[in-house]
Amino acid sequence: MKKTILTLLGLAVVILGSAAPQLSADEKAAHKFADKLIKKMTLREKFGQLEQFVTRKGVVTGPGGVKCDIESAIRKGEVGSFLSIRKRDEAMRLQKMAVEESRLGIPLIFGYDIIHGCKVIFPENLAMSCSWNIASVEHAARVAAEESAAAGIHWTFSPMCDISVDPRWSRVSEGAGEDPYLGAKIAAATVRGYQGNNLAANNTIAACVKHFAAYGAAQAGKDYNTVDMSELMFRDLYLPPYKAALDAGAVTVMSSFNDFMGIPASGSKWLLYDLLRKELGFKGFVVSDWNAVHEMIVHGVAADGKEAAELALKAHLNMDMVGGDYIAFGEQLVKEGRISEKLVDELVREVLVIKYRLGLFEDPYRYGSQNQEQAYYRPENMAFARSVAAESMVLLKNDGVLPLQEGVKIALIGPFADSKIDQLGAWRGLGEKEHSVTIRTALEERFGKENVLYTKACECGRYKNGLIEGGIEEAVKIAEQSDVILLSMGLSGWHSGESRSRASISVPEDQQQLLDALKKTGKKIVVLLATGRPMDIRNEVEKSDAVLLTWHGGTMEGPAVADLVSGDKNPSGHLTMSFPYHVGQIPVHYNSKTTGRPAKSQFKAQGYSSSYVDIRNAPLFPFGYGLSYTEFEYSDLKVLTPTVELGGVVKVSVKVTNKGKYDGDDVAQLYVRDVVAETTRPVRELKGFERFTLKAGEEKVITFEILTSDLAYCHSDMSFKTDAGDFKVWVGADSAATLEGKFTIK
Ligand code: NOJ
Repeated sequence: MKKTILTLLGLAVVILGSAAPQLSADEKAAHKFADKLIKKMTLREKFGQLEQFVTRKGVVTGPGGVKCDIESAIRKGEVGSFLSIRKRDEAMRLQKMAVEESRLGIPLIFGYDIIHGCKVIFPENLAMSCSWNIASVEHAARVAAEESAAAGIHWTFSPMCDISVDPRWSRVSEGAGEDPYLGAKIAAATVRGYQGNNLAANNTIAACVKHFAAYGAAQAGKDYNTVDMSELMFRDLYLPPYKAALDAGAVTVMSSFNDFMGIPASGSKWLLYDLLRKELGFKGFVVSDWNAVHEMIVHGVAADGKEAAELALKAHLNMDMVGGDYIAFGEQLVKEGRISEKLVDELVREVLVIKYRLGLFEDPYRYGSQNQEQAYYRPENMAFARSVAAESMVLLKNDGVLPLQEGVKIALIGPFADSKIDQLGAWRGLGEKEHSVTIRTALEERFGKENVLYTKACECGRYKNGLIEGGIEEAVKIAEQSDVILLSMGLSGWHSGESRSRASISVPEDQQQLLDALKKTGKKIVVLLATGRPMDIRNEVEKSDAVLLTWHGGTMEGPAVADLVSGDKNPSGHLTMSFPYHVGQIPVHYNSKTTGRPAKSQFKAQGYSSSYVDIRNAPLFPFGYGLSYTEFEYSDLKVLTPTVELGGVVKVSVKVTNKGKYDGDDVAQLYVRDVVAETTRPVRELKGFERFTLKAGEEKVITFEILTSDLAYCHSDMSFKTDAGDFKVWVGADSAATLEGKFTIK
């Protein structure tokens, strides 16, 4: 038997020539069960298991998809799954029909987009990643799973593992930002949170790794757009979070809308079979994105639905989301010899195995059978949402106006200060805005109703935009009666998530007019920036005294803002996506590749180097950046292992001191650079971080341990391995850290 040992994305794996993938006892039982069932299934029933439908007034439909009578389709065994059923009773009614009225009684699997919470909504994912708190991310997914399971949902279309460096792309709000190392940790934690350690428990749900692959690299930030990059870039920067989520045991994957190296992902055998199954060892099932199989016609790689189905089946895509081409053409494709029944059986087995592992054959109604009301909006989960929202917010500027003095009179102004819906952001799961606690409500509670004067002044959202009549006048009036202005501005919840790409990432013009008018009052201005993406906010930063990035902070955004502006808590979030200095810099990210002509200064315009002649290279705020009310000092960087053998551990320590007068948390970040490598490397790469707490005046030593396998990278032959050689290392509170050391791998 052929035996190869190589390092894949930092992990040593052994590939045994023709051996079948190892199955756990649980998987073996599931396979046995599925194989027995498959023997009884007609070809049509098999394709039924590979179809996912959505209900719209009793009609199955999707853009370009088929329409049919849903109930008779279920009874005939032509539906394997549904997505987006909001009501548990409706789900149970359909389940009963599948189990009791279809010939083989195979249960349906219900999927839903539970992205950053189900009932209790947490900050949008990009925001949550800025907490750098992996335990919080995992716990948020756990809470979401418990609430989802109670609502009758078996499966979430999350985590989104798409690295993106383009804030014009509205879906950056759903991911963990620009860095593969942090992205991988967050992806794995999210999967652990959803799936727990027992998929069959009635409070865990199946995760879905999406959008496979490289969807975040859509050209020009336009959603659904072409993705084209080298395989080397893909393996180095885009693949790690998907891989980490798979290694954490995610049982499903979603193929992306985009083409990738010329082939739409849903028809790419290289992506879905060679890479995903053969190389990464994935054993679960793949669902397409919405109608993505059928859209291969519009992509221009399939003449019709039949050819689209053929391409997707041959690429080993198990389940067709809403398009209907599998059930419409699958049987014909087999009968004409274009698809083998053996392949169909494999695809069906992979779906049945997951249904089995979820416990659906044992009890198709197990999800949602517990008392739902007890699972929803639990007080401890609301309290957790408050603390994770506070950890996610990033203090971008503070000239000393924050924290606010006790007894201060506040003019609270802007479109999002009292908007229960906007704070929930995009993909609100089953969250109801009635449960949102707004900034206005929370500030009134914290500072006293008489001390908070409020006006909205302008609208911003899907339907209404622009200044409200008399809005500026009223805002100026209440500002003049107050000590400080808190201006909640930016982009609405509607501006985040799928299909909201923007060419401009500036604050809308009317809100800027409002800021200008308020500036003239001479009062201190604190901008509370609502957004799901990095924005072009140079103007707002210049004209204000403090900027707190509040994001779309979820159900408990208001209390989290009150906690921070009052100083009850100290800001601790750090950016996971760079904020551009100018929109023309996009893509701007900290881990850009080395060039032959690097700029001499990142802060000066210059020619004949990799730079601009009109503006600086440096972003406005770099990856990792975030302020605190206290002052953390980083010193005494020590490389404890100046020379390490390949396979060993690099140890680097740093002293952190809280030199200010507030207790606080910060995130120590470690970056490396491979000085001479076979292929060009990023100028810096995050390879370690630690969130820590220090009381005022305290200090401690943090020691990072980096496995040399964590320093592996993609070589020109696509192998992933670590080379001997010299490395630079920096530690500090952001990606521009200057405390430097070096080590050598022998
Ligand atoms: C389209 C989106 O791209 C995907 O993220 C989502 O899970 C599906 N629709 C289902 O709603």
